[in-house]
Amino acid sequence: MSAHAAPAKRVTLAALAAKKDAGEPIVMVTAYDHPGAQIVEAAGVDVVLVGDSAAMTVLGYDSTVPVTIDEMLMLTKAVRRGLTRPLLVGDLPFGSYEASDELAIATAQRFVKEAGCDLVKIERGGTTVDRARALVQAGIPVVGHVGLTPQTATALGGYRAQGRTADAALAVIDDAVALQEAGCSMLVVEAIPSEVTEVLVSRLDIPVIGIGAGADADGQVLVFHDLLGLYDGGAAKFVKRYAELRVAAVAGVEAYATEVREGVYPAPEHGYAMAAGESDRLQELLSAGDSIHRA
Ligand code: KIV
Repeated sequence: MSAHAAPAKRVTLAALAAKKDAGEPIVMVTAYDHPGAQIVEAAGVDVVLVGDSAAMTVLGYDSTVPVTIDEMLMLTKAVRRGLTRPLLVGDLPFGSYEASDELAIATAQRFVKEAGCDLVKIERGGTTVDRARALVQAGIPVVGHVGLTPQTATALGGYRAQGRTADAALAVIDDAVALQEAGCSMLVVEAIPSEVTEVLVSRLDIPVIGIGAGADADGQVLVFHDLLGLYDGGAAKFVKRYAELRVAAVAGVEAYATEVREGVYPAPEHGYAMAAGESDRLQELLSAGDSIHRA
């Protein structure tokens, strides 16, 4: 038997569909860079989304709207280099796909070709359903996203739960069904009541991944920085923190700063020494006035 462990089996869309059928929750998480990708890979997640939440979590914008295709591509490529097993989803940024099928295909092809994405995610129902159909026909697997869609949050009345009345819930369900009929492979549902998620999970054949959508979804997704406590901003009600990395990071940098200021760091073991006798010889050469620049 080889001393090396067999490479982990890559996650496939068929494997996700089997999980839905078996009632086994799908684990999806965002990542935005190479170390983040290596962490989520090591944790054994099924799907990694390079979300346009990167605009806020790593690029410092105050919404997802300003992030550009090139910024998203740079981050997505870094994540790709850190992943082998999970499926990789690229998030098409606001303004990069809505205007026409041609625009959507051209943008999505860049995420597949340049950044190695397995799927791309686009937000909303309505005209996005046509974009989803065009992408699927062009051979690009698509993840839909309904409920609270941050790219168009202003039009939804802000960052608030969607589908809380029967009429509003029906609109979310109609969009979700239309996205499945357009050929989407998966659906993210954000900030909707669990009763609506329950309907979606039973009516849709594709996996329904929830964020702030209750426990009935086929899987869950959270933002890396939120779940690890890395993001110094307000978190939505549905976020659960599994670590407090920002607190640990600030404490670490403070300890370093203190040791530098107090002359504790670096200690001898953090430095290099000259070979035996070379320090004395250097002193002799310096006393003799030899140039340190001689050949
Ligand atoms: O951009 C993002 O991170 C997302 C998830 C919250 C689903 O769309």
